[in-house]
Parts: sequence; structure tokens; C-alpha cells
Amino acid sequence: MTLKQYNWKNGPDLIQQHSVAKHRILQAYLAAYFRTLVSSPNQDVLRLTLVDGFAGGGLYVHNDTRETVKGSPFIFLEATREAEFVINKDRRKPVQLQVDYFFTEADHHAYTHLVKVLREAGYGDKIGNGIFIEEARFQDKADAIIAFIKKKSPKNGRSIFALDQYGYKEVPTQLLRKIFDALPSAEVILTFGVDSFMNFASDGDQVKDLLDGLGIPDIFGGRSVEEIKSSDRDWRLFLQSTLYRRLVENCGARHFTPFFIRNRGGHGDYWLIHMSQHHRARDVMTEVHWANNNYFIHYGGAGLDMFQMVGYDPVHDASYLQQSPLGFEFDDVARRASIAALNEHIPRRVYADDTGISFGELFATTCNSSPASAQIYRDSIGQLLAEQIIEVVPADGGRRRSAAQIKATDQIIASNQRTLFAAI
Ligand SMILES: C[S@@+](CC[C@H](N)C(=O)[O-])C[C@H]1O[C@@H](n2cnc3c(N)ncnc32)[C@H](O)[C@@H]1O
Repeated sequence: MTLKQYNWKNGPDLIQQHSVAKHRILQAYLAAYFRTLVSSPNQDVLRLTLVDGFAGGGLYVHNDTRETVKGSPFIFLEATREAEFVINKDRRKPVQLQVDYFFTEADHHAYTHLVKVLREAGYGDKIGNGIFIEEARFQDKADAIIAFIKKKSPKNGRSIFALDQYGYKEVPTQLLRKIFDALPSAEVILTFGVDSFMNFASDGDQVKDLLDGLGIPDIFGGRSVEEIKSSDRDWRLFLQSTLYRRLVENCGARHFTPFFIRNRGGHGDYWLIHMSQHHRARDVMTEVHWANNNYFIHYGGAGLDMFQMVGYDPVHDASYLQQSPLGFEFDDVARRASIAALNEHIPRRVYADDTGISFGELFATTCNSSPASAQIYRDSIGQLLAEQIIEVVPADGGRRRSAAQIKATDQIIASNQRTLFAAI
């Protein structure tokens, strides 16, 4: 399936609901990001660079409602304005958000339209002065943008890159690695057209060249795509999980979320992959998934191996699929299934070591493989505590009665009553 591309030659183009979903997630994530970063009462400045690598033309018309829809550059700009207001309204010492924006757009009509609508919206005098817009390919500007961020925030390179490509070819893992190597606090929100990729995946040099170009050669372990298709009933899932694993392994980020944006109209699901170097950032994004569950779907339930390590293994425990046949929908059914799965898997991790495991380590080392947020881990630990399967020991000794206040440094150990799991 070829993706329909936007055209801003004659003004705003039509946008489909499943692309608007991306905007909602970006908006929700930015709001949560600012809230999380500016939690210290003594902080007075936050330096941040927001990069929209595939910026588009700025405005759309909604395909169903015909309402005007703002594109990602406006979402970035308005998220900062709103955050500044919300953060400072009750603070004695206001925080100044020093945010620079880079918008790159390769298409001439889109670029021209973007500049026009930003000017019309009153951002004209900021263009060239905090808002840097270039008619260029993101790949060609990435080095200069990274250098700017390093100079502005030498310690942490705090930045968010939205890389909302069409399809899957424009952002190779080499480019992602460059960002993460240079900027320790960078985060990337990458669109990856996994359905388009799957449809393209057939034998021959073309696929090999494509994978080489993406920096993920030989992802199918020497097997040909034809072989996989003929031998594996779930070949799409197999290809997806392999592709996903290689993509995130090669991009240099420690943490990631790989959930799908669903396209209710049928084919055309894509990944919105959030990549970061810190599990806290990963958890903020996971919470956004749970809070916006009507946009997301996760097909792990049909066998992606991200779940075999810590969540449930849905191939063996697919009870929720009877209630949500589409897959894991980040709803109450999925929440209950996640808690039930963690109730089994956390004790296994805890019992594997005589000294147990700290909550921080448990979460940091397993969250990539689970759709659960830290809150869901806490809910599970709360149940395990109540059932006396584990105990939680705070750094200063004693025992926690509930998991509500659990800290990263708390040690989770086997309870003396470990009868139920003793055989595991
Ligand atoms: C999916 S659209 C982006 C939509 C936009 N992020 C939004 O949410 O409003 C992809 C955009 O990237 C532009 N584009 C394609 N290849 C590009 C490249 N290599 N670098 C920068 N922009 C590119 C296209 O012209 C198109 O406007």
C-alpha cells in the first residue's frame, strides 16, 4: 500500500483521524514532559530544544469534520506556551522555559505554507530567532542541529526530536545513534510505517539494500522472506518483532515503547516509537499510552516476544483476547491482564536472587519488554504484598505495608510465606 502524501500547494490538505492521533499523543507527551522536568521548586530555567524533522505544512483540514487541524510545529509551540502558564501559575519563583525550535521540511510547498501560517499566527518575529525553519531534508541538517543543541545544553543536550517520516526509509538507525551518542538527554518520537514495510518485504536485492540502508542488515537470520512466509503462520508478527528488536538495538537508546497507532480503516497501522535513555521518560510515555487508549493497539498479544520476558506471554495466556479480540487495547481489560501477569513474573525475578531486587532495577531492566507503566508495577506489588508473596524493604529498614510509596531504592525480597512460589 502506498501512503497518500500531503500536498500544501493549494492550502491545507486533508488529514485522517489516525494521523490526528499522533498529534494527540505528541501534545499529551509534551505536557507530561514539562510537568516531569520542572518539578523542583528551586529551578528557574529549563533549556530545551524541540526538533520537528518532518514538519509538514502546518495546517490541515480534518477529513471527517472539515475542521482546521494544527500540525506538529504548532503543537510544539503551543505545548511550551501552555506549560509555561500551567507551571508558573502557582509558583513563587517562575521557571523560564528557554526553548528553541527547529522545523525542517523537504517539500517546497509544505515549507512555504508552514512559514506563511506561522507568520499569520503571530510567530513572524521569532522566525530566525528561536524558531529555525529550513527547506531541507532532515538528514542533511541533523549534524548542524545536534551541534546547536550541544552548544546550548553542553551537559545533557536536552531535546526532543519528532521524526514523523512517511513510510520507513528516511531515518536510518545510524542517524538515531548519532543523536543518542551526542546528546544524553535526547528523546526521539519516531513514526515507522510498519505495514508499508511489511508489504514491501519480499525477496531480492531491494529488501537487502533497504535493510542495509536502515543500518539493520541481515535481520532475518539468513532466512529468506519467502521461506519465512511459507513456514511461519504468523510471519507478519515474526517479521515485525525481529524488525522491531533490531531497530531498537541498533539505534543506541536504552528505553523504548513500540506500540501501534491503529488505523481503524484497515491496513496502515504504524509504530510510534519513543526512544530515550531513561526509564522515567519511558514511563511518562507509557502513561500517555494508557491515558489515550483509544488510539493505540498492541499486537504483542498475538506473539511479539516483548512479552515473554516479564509481562504475560499472550500465546499461553490469551484470556484477555477473548474480551478484546483486536489485541491489547490499553483498557481496563488490558490493565487487569497486565497486573495478573506481573503478579506471576515479579516473584520469579525476586526469587531468582537471594537478596531480591530493588524496585528501580526491576522496573529499569524489564519495562522495555512490558506494556505496563510504573503505576501498574506498583499495583501488582501491592497485591503481592497483601498476599504475603513478597516483602518490600525501604533503604532505612522496616517493611512497607503498601506499594503506594515504594521508592526506586526499596528492595523487594521473597516473603517468609513463600509457599505458593517455592517450587518456581
Ligand atoms: C507525515 S508528514 C509530516 C506531518 C507533520 N509532522 C505533522 O504532524 O503535521 C511528512 C513530511 O515530511 C516531509 N519530508 C519528506 N521527506 C523528508 C525529509 N527527508 N526531510 C524532511 N522532510 C521530509 C514531507 O514533505 C511531509 O511534509
